[in-house]
Amino acid sequence: MRILVTGGAGFIGSNYCRFVLREHPEDEVVNFDKLTYAGNLENLREVEGDGRYSFVRGDICDEKVVEGVMGEVDTVVNFAAETHVDRSIQHAGAFVDTDIKGLYVLLGAARKHDIGRFVHVSTDEVYGSIESGSFKEEDAPSPSSPYAASKAGAELMAKAYERTFGYQILITRGANTYGPYQYPEKVVSLFATNALDDIELPLYGDGMNVRDWLYVDDHCAGIDVVLREGVLGEAYNVGSDQERTNLELTREILKLVGKGEELIKYVKDRPGHDRRYSIDGSKLRALGWQPRVGFEEGMKRTVGWYRENEAWWRRLKDGSYRQYYEEMYANR
Ligand code: NAD
Ligand code: DAU
Repeated sequence: MRILVTGGAGFIGSNYCRFVLREHPEDEVVNFDKLTYAGNLENLREVEGDGRYSFVRGDICDEKVVEGVMGEVDTVVNFAAETHVDRSIQHAGAFVDTDIKGLYVLLGAARKHDIGRFVHVSTDEVYGSIESGSFKEEDAPSPSSPYAASKAGAELMAKAYERTFGYQILITRGANTYGPYQYPEKVVSLFATNALDDIELPLYGDGMNVRDWLYVDDHCAGIDVVLREGVLGEAYNVGSDQERTNLELTREILKLVGKGEELIKYVKDRPGHDRRYSIDGSKLRALGWQPRVGFEEGMKRTVGWYRENEAWWRRLKDGSYRQYYEEMYANR
């Protein structure tokens, strides 16, 4: 396969590029990325000399450029998105553009070029919050944030392309993902790097919101199984069954960094903050996938990586990041 990986310079996308090149020696990867603040070619240093890997800078909303690159591949995995919930609450425009219009542009070009297998990487956030039990793939979307609404909108566009044009793709809905190369705005990478620097960890609300924690290699493997084995037109949850409250997560990070709980600062809650995410992953498990890295092991590897790769995140936490951090956390 010659796979177009959009958003391949971001967190999960860059891990996925490495995953494919390692696990599938017959495949080639074309990484197509706009290089927003979250895109970083340093994430791909290991593979940039690999003859099966190439990079094209571009915007998935740009029909002309997408049209050109689509003609050179036979498969698509779409990671490209604006992804941070807090940023979507401040300014939703880029989320609507990339997450909805971007998929619309990709679908049009993919249909024209008869792309046989196309995975759109979506999120468990499209379901919204659930008090008890777990969402199944047929449950209706009920997004809370502008980010989640944009991801849900994209999924509906894909469904419309199936019903109107008969063009079928595959969708994955992944849980909260953590691991190496995550931009230090999401809770795990932010708290690990803050703790290493003795900076307060801003815990939203009462710290009792629950997320299901999925190690990035497991997420990549799940997406890959869907790409190769999934039934066209279907959606698949990628869950880990590793639910923790944010307070439990924070304590685990502090323990691994070797810092005390005095670094925790309870701050004003995120507006529309979903209380609990939980998805039923049995449909994907029936295809032979299962998560291999448990919460404690995954957190140990992750905190270890941020400890050993200080230069990577220190460069990101400079410059415009400082302004972002001050604006985001100033009045909390
Ligand atoms: P990320 O923010 O780390 O990376 C996003 C990448 O997309 C960046 O490289 C960025 O430059 C690129 N990009 C943004 N806009 C673009 C555009 N218009 N054209 C081309 N490239 C563009 O994101 P991530 O956390 O790696 O998430 C990847 C995908 O997985 C997203 O679709 C996200 O919704 C989904 N997802 C993420 C998680 C998670 O916990 N991180 C969980 C489930 C699903
Ligand atoms: O569930 C999948 C989703 O997980 C992905 O689709 C998103 O792209 C990804 O960003 C993530 O969304 P969350 O909003 O769940 O992740 P975040 O890391 O921003 O927050 C995780 C939890 O931690 C959430 O309950 C809010 C809380 N939090 C977050 C930050 C950034 C804090 O308490 N303090 C913080 O500073």
